[in-house]
Amino acid sequence: MSSPSQAPGSKDSSIVRPGSLLAILGGGQLGRMMAMAARTMGYRVRVMDPEPACPASFVVDETIAGRWDDVDAARQLATGVDSVTLEIEQIGVNALAEVARLAPLRPGVEPIRVIQDKTLQKTWLAENRFPVGPFRVVRSEAELRDAVPALGGNVFLKIGRGGYDGRGQARIGCESPPTEEAIAAAWASLGSRPSIAEKALDLDCEISVMAARNPAGEIRTYPAARNHHENQVLAWSALPAGVPTNLEARAEELAAAMIAKLGIEGLLCIEFFVTRQGELFVNELAPRPHNSYHQSERGCATSQFEQAVRAACNLPLGSTELMTPCAIANLLGDLWLNGEPDFPAALAVPGVRLHLYEKQTPRAGRKMGHLSSIGATAEEALERVLEAKRRL
Ligand SMILES: Nc1ncnc2c1ncn2[C@@H]1O[C@H](COP(=O)(O)OP(=O)(O)OP(=O)(O)O)[C@@H](O)[C@H]1O
Ligand SMILES: [Mg+2]
Repeated sequence: MSSPSQAPGSKDSSIVRPGSLLAILGGGQLGRMMAMAARTMGYRVRVMDPEPACPASFVVDETIAGRWDDVDAARQLATGVDSVTLEIEQIGVNALAEVARLAPLRPGVEPIRVIQDKTLQKTWLAENRFPVGPFRVVRSEAELRDAVPALGGNVFLKIGRGGYDGRGQARIGCESPPTEEAIAAAWASLGSRPSIAEKALDLDCEISVMAARNPAGEIRTYPAARNHHENQVLAWSALPAGVPTNLEARAEELAAAMIAKLGIEGLLCIEFFVTRQGELFVNELAPRPHNSYHQSERGCATSQFEQAVRAACNLPLGSTELMTPCAIANLLGDLWLNGEPDFPAALAVPGVRLHLYEKQTPRAGRKMGHLSSIGATAEEALERVLEAKRRL
């Protein structure tokens, strides 16, 4: 039920029952898979996306075309729906506020405002004493010139807004010395925009933890996933992560504390760095389903997509128990460069399933789909998806 009589942004904590109309800001692969989970539970779904033929458009009742800052499109999306959630954090704050005026917006405007800008997000994490590696917010080339030596000379520079899959990032002092020219070039390459400079950490591995919280305040965390990036893009992810139990428990504790502190009604995925010294640092937050939990569809009692629907509808959260080890490997557009990949060959590998997002044009680096598998161990599940990918 929408509650136009309520104050702007106020929450309707009533349960949104199956059969109701659910709206999603964003119709990419995450929105598509969330929509499929919602449909399984009998919900009707409406999405908003700049691209009318977005991945979710093929599985939903209605697609509204609109840019992320389009207030009119946001109004159209939220009118007459029972709950609104999102699959991308880059939605304009005015559009979010308009949605929240018309329907329960879960996770909520304020946490999205903080998370969608890496400068605000990292500052929030540090102010709230969550463990982050050394960083500085930089607003000018001069500030960057000061920051680089202060951070040890080997630095990741990331734009505050709009970066993803390693886009909007530059390295300084990694392959060549951090000269003034190199710093100026890095600053210019990102469009001279407010950014964060981070010390390059000596990583042992990367893990993530997905947390969920519903409007009733119930919180659940998933076991940690192990993530492997290539060229700053997630290549594969596996559950369980196989990290020491106390490290995993600490990561889950931090995830639960963050989702409570941010007051999120929905999902929050925390990407963590584990350094060679065994320290645990937060890399970044995502208030939505995350690529590193696609395998939860195969191995967990409740997939991240169903959990997102439950949280958005104030239903009891599902069990996050890992029933069987599982893994995914991403399929980037590069695989299409020499024609259609050999899907039948990949599907001959036992336990492997194919997930394609129906994106119309493959491009290098574009996430087109993924392979998933279960196995007796995370290593076996991973070996299966990697073998299937080799066969493509
Ligand atoms: N400070 C750092 N030290 C070491 N490695 C880093 C650091 N920052 C980023 N990386 C590497 O780059 C990857 C991408 O960085 P980050 O998650 O900040 O970017 P992103 O573009 O938001 O990525 P995505 O959308 O894939 O999550 C990280 O997963 C990690 O492998
Ligand atoms: Mg990341």
